[in-house]
Amino acid sequence: MTDGDGKTRSFDPGLLRGLSGKVLALTIIFVMLGEVLIFLPSIANFRIQWLKGRVAQAEIAALAAEAAPDRILSSDLRTEILKGAGVLVVSLTRGDKRQLILRSEGDHMIDASYDLRSGTWLSAIVDAFTTMLATEPRVLGIIDVPPNMSGDIIEIALFEEPLRKAMLGYGINILILSIILSIIVAGLVFTALNVTLVRPMKRLTRNMLAFRQNPEDHSRIIVPSERSDEIGLAERELHDMQSELASMLQQKSRLAALGLAASKVNHDLRNMLSSAHLISDRLAMVEDPTVKRFAPKLIGSLDRAIDFLSQTLKFGRAQEAPPLRERLTLRAIADDVIEGAVVQASSRVVLFNQVPAELLIDADREHLNRVLTNLLRNSIQAIETLQNDTPDAREGHVTVKSWREGSVVTIEVRDNGPGIPERVRPKLFEAFQSAQRSGGVGLGLAICSELIRAHGGEIRLFSTGSDGTVFRIAVPDTVAELKAGRRGERQRNLAR
Ligand SMILES: Nc1ncnc2c1ncn2[C@@H]1O[C@H](COP(=O)(O)OP(=O)(O)OP(=O)(O)O)[C@@H](O)[C@H]1O
Ligand SMILES: [Mg+2]
Repeated sequence: MTDGDGKTRSFDPGLLRGLSGKVLALTIIFVMLGEVLIFLPSIANFRIQWLKGRVAQAEIAALAAEAAPDRILSSDLRTEILKGAGVLVVSLTRGDKRQLILRSEGDHMIDASYDLRSGTWLSAIVDAFTTMLATEPRVLGIIDVPPNMSGDIIEIALFEEPLRKAMLGYGINILILSIILSIIVAGLVFTALNVTLVRPMKRLTRNMLAFRQNPEDHSRIIVPSERSDEIGLAERELHDMQSELASMLQQKSRLAALGLAASKVNHDLRNMLSSAHLISDRLAMVEDPTVKRFAPKLIGSLDRAIDFLSQTLKFGRAQEAPPLRERLTLRAIADDVIEGAVVQASSRVVLFNQVPAELLIDADREHLNRVLTNLLRNSIQAIETLQNDTPDAREGHVTVKSWREGSVVTIEVRDNGPGIPERVRPKLFEAFQSAQRSGGVGLGLAICSELIRAHGGEIRLFSTGSDGTVFRIAVPDTVAELKAGRRGERQRNLAR
């Protein structure tokens, strides 16, 4: 698979660079280290026990020698006894009397002397290594307490070589044992870690790589296991993250597709409207009073539609053009909108314009027109739906009112329709979220809200219920206008 830079990222990192290889190597190293730590004290202990064995044998030999009649031994017997005990010299100290009990023939210089009664672990380890690494045959002198209490101190002399051989044999045994043990333990630890950690990690990694290739594919979302540990948590978190991402991406592509469709509709609709415009121009020349009355309105509507589509194309799909504000007579605009809406409404819906004739609003004519059209259309549609469902329903009334408080103009659109369904209310002003009736896109109120906010104003659902719905729009004058207005007022006041 490829990453952002277009480089290929392979999943299999090889045994040595992968988690498995690392786990295996580390296990072997740590088991070996453990074995070494155990080996050091055990070899030191082996040496001490071996020497103590010799001391015990030497003591028995000494006791045997002392038991001989007149304590006189033949040279052969003495050699035999010393050989059996594996020592060269044995002497015993009783109280302050030191007595040489047995002594082999020939002179032996003592090369190193060790006192088994005292000594630390560290010195024992050092002594053990001195013995194992000795290059020349040495004679050792050993001092200890006689194990059978035949005296206070026993001193013996012996060749070091048999000790060294025994220690090397022991060391080699331990080494072989260590290797076997490391292989078994490393194998067990490796298998255990592989099952509990490495394999789930590999599953996670594999899943991430696969998901990344196509994040919109819901079937690639990881199915979390039942584990309660950190890996289980990671799997569940990844699952949630992938689910959210997948739905977000799906929504995004839906919106993108919709945007493209809107642009196409926009583009070609403009052409169609232009030809409709040309035809209505011709229509305006017909000498019929009805045609004369409606043709200018038709042309005006088409003009506005073409203008609107061009603006939308120019500013892109998502954003409205900034409002071009001017002082407008709201009553006239409401009349226009109502007249347009009446044409579409059934005869059982009556629209009222209760906007005071002198009320001026500081707004974009086109935007205001669109906002009111959307609100009136919603009201009419709601009332008509009710009337279709229950034929004996009351006559529909939609009223537009307005008043000014300081620099803020409030417009109210009130109907006696069925009210807004409860589940639509929370996201009423969000695009595509509120479509309730069939054929509705759910854009009308979102557009109203956006247009009014661009004026620094606010649209809100004032009340809704089974007796009808009231929307209120507050549009403040622009700040510059406000100041000019106040200045104008002050001048007027001064002039009075
Ligand atoms: N006056 C009203 N009375 C009852 N329900 C309303 C009223 N105004 C809006 N609604 C409800 O709010 C929903 C959202 O309205 P909105 O104008 O945003 O979208 P729409 O009318 O469904 O679609 P569009 O206006 O984009 O064609 C409507 O579908 C309707 O259910
Ligand atoms: Mg609508």
